[in-house]
This record gives sequence, structure tokens and C-alpha cells, in this order.
Amino acid sequence: MAPRTSIADFRNFLSSSNRIVALCGAGLSAASGLPTFRGAGGLWRTHSPTSLATPDAFEDDPALVWLFYAWRKHMAIKASPNRGHYALAELAKRRENFLCLTQNVDGLSPRAGHPDAQLRALHGSILDVKCFNECGYVDKNNLDDPVCPALAPAAEDYPSNETLPLLDPNVPLPSINVEDLPHCPNCKTGLLRPGVVWFGESLDFAMLDEVDSWFRQAPIDVILVIGTAAVVNPAARYVDKARRMGAMVVVVNPDPSSGAGLSRGDFFFQGDASAILPQLFEDIIGKMDEAGRIV
Ligand code: APR
Repeated sequence: MAPRTSIADFRNFLSSSNRIVALCGAGLSAASGLPTFRGAGGLWRTHSPTSLATPDAFEDDPALVWLFYAWRKHMAIKASPNRGHYALAELAKRRENFLCLTQNVDGLSPRAGHPDAQLRALHGSILDVKCFNECGYVDKNNLDDPVCPALAPAAEDYPSNETLPLLDPNVPLPSINVEDLPHCPNCKTGLLRPGVVWFGESLDFAMLDEVDSWFRQAPIDVILVIGTAAVVNPAARYVDKARRMGAMVVVVNPDPSSGAGLSRGDFFFQGDASAILPQLFEDIIGKMDEAGRIV
């Protein structure tokens, strides 16, 4: 049976919902100009982004991995939150039983004013740096851009009709000595690395415990699955977990195949999260203008 697609039906349903959870992914930030991971043409030079997101890749070639993350950090700092981030932040301010789990590391939800207590950045933050040797050093919300002088080629601004040399696989990568990458000021031996969770690494245990206890507290009315391919665990498992706690599943995604697996009673809204979320929450948050302000 096909999922429901009526915005009016969803608004009625949300108005009578109490415990709401969202699982967000890269598609939420697509309208802010940030590329998704598994999107069309998703190579970074000749590398798939996921092949660069591992401790082994960093160990093998820290300069390459740092160039990739320094470029993503520059993009995230330059980007602005979109109406999707603002709509979720407004919903959180009006519904204390709304918890937003984001896989995004771009910091755009906090910048949209999403209350910290109702936001969990499952995969960390690209604005944090920490010691690769795990001495315990962490520097939160570090806005250095470029990350260090050697990584300046990742933070160049180019006109939108020209390709940044760093992104052109025909232009050789700048040669960077490991000594010129940022080193840990605490243990003085380790390299610093981005504060994101890489493949093969665990998510923060304390955060997972908190999320699990929120899930167990009481039945959940709805899980919003926004702009995520929902293929990376443990994040993706929250969808079934919420369903087992009674939740309807609501998918917001332009890819028609992302609605597969939904049942009768669930909702599927096909399209851009920044356009759809303000409409879905309008009864609760009010009308939103193009800049993301409630009017
Ligand atoms: N609005 C909503 N969804 C969109 C939009 C948009 N404007 N544009 C693209 N999407 C959808 C795509 O159809 C896709 O389903 O966003 C999803 C993005 O999927 P991925 O690129 O796989 O990103 P995500 O699910 O966030 O990846 C999860 O994988 O590589 C790791 O740690 C990384 O956090 C990341 C995790």
C-alpha cells in the first residue's frame, strides 16, 4: 500500500503528536550548496568521499584526507542554514519532546538556532579538531579557515563558473609535508584530525546512551527521515527502532526510491527538504519567509 502524501493530513497528524524524532542527512544541507555523499557525480577528484573517511586513509595519506576535510570545512563555513534547518529549529523551540538526530557535520543546525538540548550530532562536527593519537585533546568549534597555511589551497574561493584547481583531477595535488599539517598542542606527537566519526569508528557512547534512553522513555509518534539515504548504521537503525516504538515514518527526499519500504499510514514527501519542511510544520511554527524567518 502506498504511503500518504497529503500535507494537510500530515499537519493534522503532527498537531496531535507528542514525541517526535528526526533523522537528518546530507540532503538537508543540499539547498545550502553542500554536496551529499552518495549524490550524482559524487567523486572528490578521483576518490569516493567515503574512501577518504577512514582512519586508514588518514594514516596512509594525512595530507590528502586533510585537503578533503579542509575543503569541506571551508564550504560549511561559507554556507548558510536553509529554510529546512530553520523549520526544524522552530519546531524544536515549540515542542520540547522533539529530538533531532543529525548525521551532518556541517554545523548548520546549531547556526539556525536549533536548541543544543534537542540536537545530537551523531557523526561529530567538522568544526572540531582532535588528536589522532587519542591523547584526549579536542578543540571545539575551531573556525580557522584555512585550517593551517599548508591547507590554503582547500580554502580558495573561485567564481562559480570556474573549477577550483584542488577539485580538478588533472591538476596535481599540492605537495604538503606531514610536518606542515596541524599537530596536537597537548601530546605534541600526534597529528590533529577533523572531529568527525569515520567509517570503522564508534559513535560517542554517552551520546548513544542518551538517545537510547530517550527512545525507551515512552512510545514515539513519528520519525521524520530527512535527506538521508539511511544506509549508514547505527544511524539508519533509528528508523526501525522508532517504528518499533509505535512511530509513523515520514520521508522527505527528492529520490522516489527513498519512499520504498514505507507502509500504509506512513508519509512520503518527494522533494527538497528546504521547501517541504516549512510547509509540513506550518500549523505549529507559523508561516516562514524565503529567508527562514517566521512571519
Ligand atoms: N532535500 C532532501 N533530500 C535530498 C536533497 C534535498 N534537496 N538532495 C538530495 N537529497 C537526498 C538524496 O536523495 C539522498 O537520499 O539526500 C540523501 C543523501 O544521502 P547521502 O549522500 O548518502 O548522505 P547521508 O545519508 O547523510 O550519509 C550518511 O554517510 O558518508 C557517511 O558520515 C557520512 O553522515 C554521512 C553518512
